[in-house]
Amino acid sequence: MPLDIVVGTQWGDEGKGRLVDLLAAQADFVARYNGGDNAGHTVTVGEQTFRLHLIPSGVIHLHAIGVIGNGVVVNPATLLAEMETLRAAGIPITPNRLRLSYAAHLITPAHRALDQAQEASRGQGKIGTTLRGIGPAYTSKVSRQGLRLVEMLDRQLFAQAIRAHVQEINRYLTALYAAGPLDAQEIVDEFDGYAAQLAPYIADVSSLLAEALARGRRVLAEGAQGTLLDLDHGTYPFVTSSNPTAPGALVGLGLGVGCAERAIGVTKSFQTRVGSGPFPTELAGEMAARLRGTGANPWDEFGTTTGRPRRVGWLDMVLLRLAVHINGLTELALTKLDILTGLPTIRLCTAYRANDQTFTALPFGPSNLSAYEPAYEELPGWDQDLRAARRWEDLPAAARAYILRIEEQSGVPVRLISVGPERTQVIERP
Ligand code: GDP
Ligand code: IMO
Ligand code: MG
Repeated sequence: MPLDIVVGTQWGDEGKGRLVDLLAAQADFVARYNGGDNAGHTVTVGEQTFRLHLIPSGVIHLHAIGVIGNGVVVNPATLLAEMETLRAAGIPITPNRLRLSYAAHLITPAHRALDQAQEASRGQGKIGTTLRGIGPAYTSKVSRQGLRLVEMLDRQLFAQAIRAHVQEINRYLTALYAAGPLDAQEIVDEFDGYAAQLAPYIADVSSLLAEALARGRRVLAEGAQGTLLDLDHGTYPFVTSSNPTAPGALVGLGLGVGCAERAIGVTKSFQTRVGSGPFPTELAGEMAARLRGTGANPWDEFGTTTGRPRRVGWLDMVLLRLAVHINGLTELALTKLDILTGLPTIRLCTAYRANDQTFTALPFGPSNLSAYEPAYEELPGWDQDLRAARRWEDLPAAARAYILRIEEQSGVPVRLISVGPERTQVIERP
């Protein structure tokens, strides 16, 4: 059963969109299974750059059908805007090309207001969320008070449900956070318009994909965020509120455990993070500025969704090994190798130190990362521009040695090496 899952192995922004675009050439369906418009996935095709937040990156291939699974939280305003942006760029988005799970949950302005109020009240301890209402929307889901897309199909009942929802969140906003209440009628009217536009797209995604897989069709699952932002397995509480890890694709699309074939871990050649939380290999000063870039290039390390500068550091093999086992990775796709060109030496964190002890794995997962000091190996750098490399042999020996060391340390083969943002800037290893 050919379900392939693309998952980030770090704190997001590994280049998942870029990889999905590459692999979607061979897929019949491309499916988002977690998160919401907190994601920002960039795809560069020739002169065109697409920045997608909700719609799977694979829809840029006109043969592929995009699917949004039950595990996603959908802000209908963002979704409709993104549909328009794609259409304007010449990518048709119709109910034949995009299916939304009836069981996906909605994000409303009330969820966004609550996200904002909660972050403000956390002060120094803030998570640094994207303020897209993600946490509150999943909270509604888990507390069984959420609004599902299927409810949009009965507009009268939907209006009642929205009204009750806004009134409920207004109670939190006013009583706990001293924030102003939202106008329920305004949101009822706004969402009635969204319901009219989105109704034709709502479907039973789980059955659709299960039938497609049974007919031998290929499904590519596109994760948002990354392993270390996973609600269960990440750097809690500095995580998102969904399960970006590969098994999340099964739950988030409504597929059984026998479907998955490949789990492709997208790994940036260094490490980045947006928002708060521990980051053992984090760099400061000149080296950080060098890896981050100035923002002059579209691939520089500034958030696709929020524009915030990303924190940067060396690649961390202790955390990558965790990602390998949590996701059951069959292979790695290494991105942004070109960015390391020109560094005299490259550091690779292979273990942690604490209390005179060395740890190659963590006793309690990534729950208490600030207690550890990274232990580094130093590898020689290279000066050659990698952006035109298309074969393993085109890479300088030092770059090959870096990749081979990552394979040894992670126990997983590096099958794809990205040397630039554009679709063709990739090396495939047999
Ligand atoms: P995602 O959230 O995992 O999809 O990643 P983002 O799109 O947020 O961030 C990755 C950024 O790196 C985007 O601007 C991509 O175009 C860019 N990118 C991806 N792969 C490469 C690469 O190999 N080299 C360079 N220079 N940029 C890349
Ligand atoms: P993609 O799919 C990087 C981070 C936020 C914050 C934490 C919780 O582009 O890799 P949330 O709004 O989800 O409640 O914020 O998660 N975060 C991301 N960081 N890439 C993302 O998505 C992210 N989505 C959320 O910065 O630290
Ligand atoms: Mg991103």
